Amino acid sequence: MDHFLYKNGALHAEDVPLSCIAAQVGTPVYVYSAATLTRHFGLFRQALDWTDHLVCFAVKSNSNLAVLKLMGDLGAGMDVVSAGEYLRAKAAGVPGDRIVFSGVGKTLAEMRLAIEGGIRQFNIESEPEMRALSQLAASMGATVPVAIRVNPDVDAKTHEKIATGKSENKFGIPISRAIEVYAEAARLPGLEVVGVDVHIGSQLTDLAPFRAAYRKVAELTGALRAEGHQITRLDLGGGLGIPYRRDNNAPPLPIEYGQVIREAVGHLDCEIEIEPGRNIVGNAGVLLAEVIYVKQGEDRDFLIVDAAMNDLLRPAMYGAHHDIVPVIEPGLGAAVHPYDVVGPVCESGDTFQKAAQLPQMEAGGLIAFRSAGAYGAVMASEYNSRPLVPEVLVQGDHFAVIRARPTFDEMLARDSIPPWL
Ligand code: LLP
Repeated sequence: MDHFLYKNGALHAEDVPLSCIAAQVGTPVYVYSAATLTRHFGLFRQALDWTDHLVCFAVKSNSNLAVLKLMGDLGAGMDVVSAGEYLRAKAAGVPGDRIVFSGVGKTLAEMRLAIEGGIRQFNIESEPEMRALSQLAASMGATVPVAIRVNPDVDAKTHEKIATGKSENKFGIPISRAIEVYAEAARLPGLEVVGVDVHIGSQLTDLAPFRAAYRKVAELTGALRAEGHQITRLDLGGGLGIPYRRDNNAPPLPIEYGQVIREAVGHLDCEIEIEPGRNIVGNAGVLLAEVIYVKQGEDRDFLIVDAAMNDLLRPAMYGAHHDIVPVIEPGLGAAVHPYDVVGPVCESGDTFQKAAQLPQMEAGGLIAFRSAGAYGAVMASEYNSRPLVPEVLVQGDHFAVIRARPTFDEMLARDSIPPWL
């Protein structure tokens, strides 16, 4: 459930009409609902309330400082994958001991930053990285908590570009070699082995791959303990999918996911970390856009809107579907019309949806792309020199711009022309 509903014939974010935001901030603009974020975070907490746990929000899904502050104030930890994300989490007030650092290519500079600023744990993804971190930590006189990310070779049954748990993927160390790698980790200075980490992919709509992966983690944990390792923490990654289509079977709920975790690893008496991103923020956001032109093609009509692939890349990149809805509620039984909804960018890939069923639209009409809160604004760019899309957070009957649209002067000022030109 989210808080984007029609009230008095107009689509609202909580108690704010989206048309008010469009009038005051302009379009395109991302709009997030604080109540939805809060609710979704609570569902994960509830799903794990049978054990010690930390829900670490995957910062990559939405890294706006206001979103991170809201999550952090609710008690969330953060899963970060770069210096920038680490600094954002800290700037949002999240203490280092609630931040886990994931990612296959952490640089020495990034690891140093996190050791200096405080870190809950590094999730190590390879032996060279493990050795580099050991050397660095030892040289700084520090001992850092680590979990090793294992690749369980499980098919997540999701889009190939966001599956991470098969042996052909670049992530983690093969689970078959884990015993050996943990033995080396235990010998290395500067590292304290605390746990096992796994993440098999994103937008999973079936619990079976999670179950398979977590069972393998449980088995490994037993084997590692038998070798004398103190495994007290399991980081089980993120990946639980969301409904992108209102008319479809909904994916499993966080509470069901929590049960799978309990069944697979509950007996191990470990603290559980999870790293959900999309499931918390995906349906807590929409991208609001205005129709620039309605263009009649030879055999179809195009709705040319002022949002484009640079603002919401998912359809162009993954063929992803986002429900598109009019901001003015269509009357009961109103005729629908098929439109190809496209942006102004000079690529045919800049198509959000073909034959979207919408009421008759006119230039100046507003539409919303639903389920756009995760991997939306964070993947936006200024391609075609379109200003980076702004973001707004709604709470109840008020809203705030949480990232302003840059002016053209600001955009141009970031470049410089060398004196010899
Ligand atoms: N933890 C790790 C180590 C991850 O790599 C990811 C996502 C997550 C947690 C969070 O997964 P989530 O709960 O959000 O599914 N840009 C793509 C999604 C990429 C996901 C990458 N890793 C998209 O738009 O679908």
